[in-house]
Amino acid sequence: MRKQVIAGNWKMNKTHREAEDFIQTTKNEVPSSDKVESVVCAPFPFLQKLVEETEGTSLKIGAQNMHFEESGAFTGEVSPVMLKELGVTYVVLGHSERREVFKETDEDINKKVHAAFKHGLTPIICVGETLDQREADQTMNHVEAQVKKALEGLTNEQCADVIIAYEPIWAIGTGRTATAEQANEVCAHIRETVSNYVNADAADAVRIQYGGSVKPANVDEMLSQSDIDGALVGGASLEADSFLKLVEAGK
Ligand code: G3P
Repeated sequence: MRKQVIAGNWKMNKTHREAEDFIQTTKNEVPSSDKVESVVCAPFPFLQKLVEETEGTSLKIGAQNMHFEESGAFTGEVSPVMLKELGVTYVVLGHSERREVFKETDEDINKKVHAAFKHGLTPIICVGETLDQREADQTMNHVEAQVKKALEGLTNEQCADVIIAYEPIWAIGTGRTATAEQANEVCAHIRETVSNYVNADAADAVRIQYGGSVKPANVDEMLSQSDIDGALVGGASLEADSFLKLVEAGK
């Protein structure tokens, strides 16, 4: 039985004060981590404080990106070593905003996934199609290629331990959610891809989240699908009340 993972992706939002208030309100209210993994992926400047404040609770802290190198002349970048040192446990990799706005390639993302495992961070790997790709019937091919490239060179055990977030780009921040059936169809295809590319055990173990306009009103339906094991949530993860409803649904 796969444990659900509900992760908030705050993106570039909140002040330090707002971040702290959110954590104080939620850290002792999230369900036990035996039942559901509750994660907040916050901007870099807040990570240290949030990790300290959530120590000993079931609320875990993730980053939204990192470089694949451990150190060096990469002005403005943050390394996996730095994140690990802070006590961060998860890292979102290959979000469509990173791919589109910052031109990250499948190859960069694969290097980052390897770096995450090397430093004991759990990668949340984002994949998903554009509206044009969906309309051209390219969703499955595109997502399958992204998944294979992200997992290239990993051990079978590492493939079982990644979290894959299926986020159709046309559903991000638009209020336009994929139907639960549409989302599940692609998540099932991702699982089949892992089965063929790695093995059946990894496919059975890998957690696949859906992301794209998830909110308290639609999360139950999403999480009830056979191949959806959680949610990666932007807008609706910013308010403490709403985040608590989402993690509650993951139990
Ligand atoms: O990573 C989460 C995300 O891109 C979805 O954002 O605001 O549609 O929940 P949102």
